[in-house]
Order: sequence, then structure tokens, then C-alpha cells
Amino acid sequence: MRVCGAAILLGLAACQQQPKASPKPTEITFDGAQVTDAAALVAHGARLTQVLGCKGCHTPALTGQNIFDDAPQYGVMYAPNLTQFVPRHSDAQIEAVLRRGIEPTRKDLWGMPSSVFQHLSSADMRSLFAYLRSLRPAGEPSPPPRLSALAKKEFIDTGQVKPEAQAVVEARLKPAIDLGPSYALGRYIASVTCAECHGPDLTGTKDVEPGLNSPNLIVVGAYTRADFERLMTTGVPVGGRKLRLMDEVATHRFSRMTPHERDALYAYLKARAERP
Ligand code: HEC
Ligand code: HEC
Repeated sequence: MRVCGAAILLGLAACQQQPKASPKPTEITFDGAQVTDAAALVAHGARLTQVLGCKGCHTPALTGQNIFDDAPQYGVMYAPNLTQFVPRHSDAQIEAVLRRGIEPTRKDLWGMPSSVFQHLSSADMRSLFAYLRSLRPAGEPSPPPRLSALAKKEFIDTGQVKPEAQAVVEARLKPAIDLGPSYALGRYIASVTCAECHGPDLTGTKDVEPGLNSPNLIVVGAYTRADFERLMTTGVPVGGRKLRLMDEVATHRFSRMTPHERDALYAYLKARAERP
């Protein structure tokens, strides 16, 4: 005993207790990703497809839609039928789409926000797969995109739309600012949701839709927690103005976050806004 005590005083490692296997740091995830029950995992994945917007672009049944339906001058561009795509591809192929913007059979993937989904935790990704694999195939496989010369000129030659694999890499160069472990959940949620339209570093972007910019999320500095709850669940901002896009995004997607997730998101965005 005494020898051991002395050894510790001398800083000798040999006498110290066998260190416990250091616990794996808990992964940051949306609430409910750490379930083991199969049905709960599927339910969590289903909620994520709403919060992350999969159902907004790929339709609520995930059977796909031509996003140029109202603008045929740009050609044809499906957010494809996932109920047909998923059973035909491996987890690795689907994860390469989601995290790296790599389409298994074509050179470029367009308009799929892999640049934000690259940050999804492995637990959230796992539940997304559990849900996607639970869907029965419905409808027809969607055709590949056919972009018109006009679409190439307006979106691609101008650099407004980039091949998603390139957007993935570029987004890593300007991450949302890290404010430490107590804000990590809020930062995570912002990086996989808000960043899609407000930019990877949340400083706002031009032309989310033609002529509609998104602001730097520093604006949340002017929101109380109650104002933020109202915006996120009903789409009504401070001052009661009518918004053009954010209101729909909030009601369809962010109203499905848990109150705890919105707390974390608010705390992070508020701290980010009040940073000296
Ligand atoms: C902003 C709209 C949008 C959102 C949000 C979105 N997608 Fe997509 N997604 C697309 C578009 C558009 C394509 C087709 C891109 C192409 O063909 O070049 C696509 C392609 C895909 C593909 C590849 C299909 C194929 O045929 O190559 C998968 C898989 C996919 N999305 C899954 C998801 C999942 C899962 C989510 C949610 C986590 C999601 N998407 C969210 C628009 C979106
Ligand atoms: C699909 C695109 C999209 C996503 C995703 C998105 N926003 Fe927005 N947001 C916008 C646009 C566009 C505006 C500009 C206002 C409008 O829609 O008219 C906006 C405006 C705002 C505003 C300003 C409202 C005001 O007072 O004028 C806040 C705050 C905001 N967003 C917060 C968020 C947060 C927090 C997230 C993530 C949880 C998020 N947004 C995700 C598109 C988006």
C-alpha cells in the first residue's frame, strides 16, 4: 500500500489502478436515435424524413416528383422515387448519395442536399435507413434528370447550382461556428437542417428561390424563446409578417422537432448571435 502511495506521488504509472476503459463519448443525435427497439428506430427515422425535408422534396409517400413540373423550360428533374431506389441499392451506395453526393450510376447528382446530410450522426443515419428499408415499393422508378440548355446556362454555368459532390466538399470549408459541448446539440441540428438554406456557416444565402434570400441566422438574437417557438411551429415571425418560404418550412418540418431540440437550437443560435 505504502509503496503504491509513494509510487503515485512519484507519478509512477505502474502502481496506478488499471484505468477503466474510457467510455465512448455519446454521439450527438436528434432525440430518440439511441433506441434499440426496431419499431422505435423506424419511427425515429420516419420523423427525421420530415424534419430533414426528405418528404418535402421526394413527396410525403417518398414516391418522387418532377421538381420542374411548373417550369418545363428547365427540363425534367425528379426528386426520385425512394421506395423504388432504396431496395435496388446497398446501404453503402445510399450512404454515398447522402454523405458524399455520389450517384451510383451517373456522374453528377444535382439538387440533393448531401452537403448538409454529410453531418448526420451514425445513429440518426441508421434509423433513417431502418425507415427507408421498411417502405414497400410503390409507383415507377423516376427517370434521370434532363436539364435543358436554359437550365445549364442559368443554374450551372453561373455556379448557382453545383454538382452535389463539390458542394459537399465546399461546405466543409465553412462550418457553423463551434461554441463548445453545451451547444453541440443545437449546432448539430442547425448544421443538418437550417444550413440547407441559410448556408453551411448559417450566414445566409442568395436566391434560395429566384429573388428570395435567406438571412444570417444572427437574426435569432432578436427573438425571445417564445418568439422562436412561434416561428418554428406556426411559421409566424417576430412582428407577425407573412414570410414567403420559411413559414412553410417551419410548419412542415420544424414543428416536428421535439421541444427539447428547439430549446437546444435556440440556445445555440442565441449564443452565436450574442458572441462578442
Ligand atoms: C431540396 C430537395 C431534397 C431534399 C430535402 C432531399 N432530397 Fe434526395 N434528392 C433530391 C433530388 C433533386 C435528387 C435527384 C438528383 C439527381 O438526380 O441528380 C435526389 C436524390 C436522392 C437519392 C438518389 C436517388 C437516385 O436516383 O440517384 C436518394 C437516395 C435521396 N435523394 C434520398 C434523400 C433522403 C433520405 C433525404 C432526407 C434525408 C433527401 N433525399 C432529401 C432532392 C432532395
Ligand atoms: C428550405 C429553406 C429553409 C430552411 C431549411 C430554413 N430556412 Fe429559415 N428562412 C428561409 C428563407 C427563404 C427565409 C427568408 C424569409 C422568407 O421565407 O420569406 C428564412 C428566414 C428565417 C428567419 C427570419 C425570420 C424573420 O424574422 O424575418 C429565421 C429566424 C429563420 N429563417 C430560422 C431558420 C432556422 C432556425 C432554420 C433551421 C431549423 C431554418 N430557418 C431553416 C429558408 C429556410
